Amino acid sequence: MRAATEGSAVGYPIPKDNRLKGPFQPMRFEATVNECIVTHGEIPKDLAGGFYRTGPTWKRPTRQGTNGILAMDGMVQGLVLENGRADFRNRWIRTPKYVLEESHGKGMFTWSDGDWQDWRCFGLGDVQRDAYTRGVPQGTNSVNIFPFQGMMLATADSVGAPIAIDPITLDTVGIVAWSSKLSAGLHEKAAFGDGGFTAHPKWDPDTGVLYGWAYRDTAPYVTLHFVHPDGTVDSRDLWDAPYNAVAHDIWLTKDHLVMPFQPFIVDKARIAKGTGVYEWNPELPIVLALIPRHDINGEIRYVRMDIEPQYVMHTMSGNVSGSTLTLDGPIFNRPPFPFEQDFAKGDDVALFFSIAKSQLGRWTVDLESGATRSETLSDRPSELPKVDERFYGKGYRWGYQVGGRVKRDGMSMNSLVVTDMMTLSDQEYQIRHDQPAAVLEATFAPRHVDSPEGDGYLIVPVSWWAENRGEYLIFDTHDITQGPITRIELPFRLGWTAHGHWMDFRTP
Ligand SMILES: [Fe+2]
Repeated sequence: MRAATEGSAVGYPIPKDNRLKGPFQPMRFEATVNECIVTHGEIPKDLAGGFYRTGPTWKRPTRQGTNGILAMDGMVQGLVLENGRADFRNRWIRTPKYVLEESHGKGMFTWSDGDWQDWRCFGLGDVQRDAYTRGVPQGTNSVNIFPFQGMMLATADSVGAPIAIDPITLDTVGIVAWSSKLSAGLHEKAAFGDGGFTAHPKWDPDTGVLYGWAYRDTAPYVTLHFVHPDGTVDSRDLWDAPYNAVAHDIWLTKDHLVMPFQPFIVDKARIAKGTGVYEWNPELPIVLALIPRHDINGEIRYVRMDIEPQYVMHTMSGNVSGSTLTLDGPIFNRPPFPFEQDFAKGDDVALFFSIAKSQLGRWTVDLESGATRSETLSDRPSELPKVDERFYGKGYRWGYQVGGRVKRDGMSMNSLVVTDMMTLSDQEYQIRHDQPAAVLEATFAPRHVDSPEGDGYLIVPVSWWAENRGEYLIFDTHDITQGPITRIELPFRLGWTAHGHWMDFRTP
């Protein structure tokens, strides 16, 4: 395969690879669609802000001729709403890696897990540096994008520093100025300003403090990074973190960051042994780290959970009542990533939800006794939890997810679900039936900046990929069962994106 990427060939055909089929077919262009066509209803006139998402977007094979998902360049998609009008843009994120490869017109990087043509190729190994790539960070900033200090920041998961994106033009502004204060993530820093940052930070809506971290496969397994609005960064190495978990998401409560250590582990040393970088080791305990939110150097309490092996990939939110801490989120039977117990060498990759399923659940911790339990709150498969982010860290009532149905060992996503987490009653609207489509993660936008929690709109991107059509659906949270109040159409399929967030343009 290597020969295919050498020489002067340009315009590589899209490889036959499950990572690039169906909903994962990459967008091959950058578009600006002003005044998007509204095919149903109208856009609420007092809604002003942008909805941004990022995802790994294939442009050309790697130097090794493979397509590891984390080696693919991040592309940002943005829908800006103002005065009843919607403007769409999508742009590749101009990471140092992207810029280097554009200047050469070919893949320039070689990954230690990039020679495999099968499920083991994640693009998460170390880059084997040469004269071209020495000093060039390997981050692709393809997993999430979130607001901070008037910019949207795109990150991967502990690979590369955040990159600021202009919320109107989607131009790449550059690596954040505070990146030099970040620790190395999963890889050694390639240059000044390289570093690691989580894909799923939380923030304090009142102070603007961004609660982030980096994780890695060697001790200290986690370094906390609390970023202040002025760009100062408080950091702490967690030398007593229990093991090298994939520390993908946290819960933020009034007093704590709650970081779960779960037996989904990352270990680059596995690559040399011929297996993928990730491992599922259910022998390990699930341990919650309760990290004092207002004193980064305060005492951390580690709570070992007495529950069956399971996996929360994404958190919804949590509540504290007296000495009872409840932590909500979709709970998987196992991580939705391929492992050696699932696949043989040479097998093609199965992405995400095809090999595991999750249902909304709750972990409860008695903060006095340390007793823990896990319960399932719904029979419906669901994932991609979201909340009204104006209430991050303040407790919550309303949870939003993409729902689905069981499909073989995994689940097929097709609906929007709103759950009242106090009563556990829910509303569902089925967005697609038998038509092929990717129903992507929703975002909440408040009706007004000072509306009560959960009063507003849910915006859901849908890629009708078989019809080369894209849509953003807007639902009113008062009642989603009546269907979207607005349908905004795009004349192409939306490339697959992992995560994103809303930036409000209105001021209180
Ligand atoms: Fe995620």
